[in-house]
This record gives sequence, C-alpha cells and structure tokens, in this order.
Amino acid sequence: MICVKNSRELAAMRQACIISARALQLGGEAVEPGVTTAEIDRIIRKYIESQGAKPSFLGYGGYPASACISVNETVIHGIPDKRVIRAGDIVSIDVGAYIGGYHGDNAATFAAGDISPEAQALLDATRESLYEGIAQATAGNRVGDIGAAVQRYVEMRGYSVVRQFVGHGVGTNLHEDPSVPNFGTPGRGTRLVPGMTLAIEPMINMGGSEVEILKDGWTTVTKDGKLSAHFEHTIAITSDGPAILTIP
Ligand code: MF3
Ligand code: CO
Repeated sequence: MICVKNSRELAAMRQACIISARALQLGGEAVEPGVTTAEIDRIIRKYIESQGAKPSFLGYGGYPASACISVNETVIHGIPDKRVIRAGDIVSIDVGAYIGGYHGDNAATFAAGDISPEAQALLDATRESLYEGIAQATAGNRVGDIGAAVQRYVEMRGYSVVRQFVGHGVGTNLHEDPSVPNFGTPGRGTRLVPGMTLAIEPMINMGGSEVEILKDGWTTVTKDGKLSAHFEHTIAITSDGPAILTIP
C-alpha cells in the first residue's frame, strides 16, 4: 500500500529528513585516513540522539549499528567496526533518523584523502545519476521513469546498476511501497502522485552489477571486487515537482 502524505505529515517528515541529512554531513566530515568506521558510527548516533531522534537502522531486522558504512568494494550495509579508513578509500555512509513518527533516509559516498581519478569519476557519476532520477520524480510520471533515467546516465559511462537492491517508499516505516529500482522502462510502473515520499538510492558499480552478501548476513560486496558508490535522498512528489527533503 502506498501512503500519500498531506502537508502536515510532510512537515513532520521534513524534520526527520533534516536530522538525517545533518547526521550524514557530520559522518562525511569525519571521513579521513586513520579513523575507524565505528568512530564515524558513534558520531552519527550521538548527533541523532542529541536531537531527540532515534537512528532508524539500529535494531532494524537486527541491524547492529546506527549507520551503514561501506568501504570500497562494499556496496551497502557495511557494519561499522574497528576497520581503519586509509587514504584513497571511498566510504559510503547510509543513515536514517526517526522522529515525530517519520523516518528520513539518505546516503553519500565520501573520499578519504586523495582518491584515484577513476574512483572520483564513479562518485561523481553516481551522485549525478541520483539527480537524474530525482528530476523524473514528478506527478504523472511513473516509477520506471526514475529508474530508466538513472540507468541510462550510468550505463552510458560504462558503469553498472546494482539490481538486487532498490530504493523504496519511506515515511512511518523505513521501507514502504513502492519499490524504486535504479533501472527500468520509461512509462512503466506505479504512477507518481503528490504526497508520495520516496528514497531514491542508486548503487553503482565500476565493474559488473553482481553483488554478494557476506556471512554476517549484511555486508554486501561486488562479486568482482571492484569499487561501488551509493547516493540517496528522501524526496517528496509535489505539484511543483520533486522536493528533496534530506537537505541539512
Ligand atoms: N538506506 C538503507 C535502505 O534503505 C538502509 C537499510 S539498513 C538497515 O535499505 F539496517 F536498516 F536495514
Ligand atoms: Co534507503
């Protein structure tokens, strides 16, 4: 079932999204050679709790941390631990906050120190593909228009789209209908109407699209060991076009 929000509900949701966005920004600022992923997670958790919010992911399906921190070939759901970030790493941080009955959800990939031009190009293309997808998130369009725009942008540049994981509706629950794949056919899928709130989140690989989940049940890596990047915003469909809610 798709939940369409009224303006009061959207205002509440915006609160959760602003906290999520500030948490992501703080996490990103903490990315530097020598820091552990657990330290970044702690900074994020402290900030979210200082705002009277709850980390959306903590305990979700048994997930043991506040953020997902995914380094290099890790695509998503990297569990923060003692791993030390090194210069040249790319670090994807995914974080959500829950307050006032609503979740916000966002992600970005950050560079630790100097990274290779190839890694930088992957980051830039993944971020840009998210905005290509968001531009299609207009009333009257369909979910397939979003995925098709993301897919077209990244495949033209020789990257591949992860298919095993997708974006989603978000609101009173972290994951709601509809699914929002980062691939698709224009004009297909659920019609977008004002008041829908979606998490659009391209996961883009330098090599092949295949991923595998490690024995911990969470950590998702590229099968070929090549780099992967991830950017995500929570957006609302409005009569004036897409509104990005996860802005600090
Ligand atoms: N942003 C991710 C998602 O939308 C985060 C889920 S991690 C989990 O699926 F731990 F909460 F599952
Ligand atoms: Co999400």
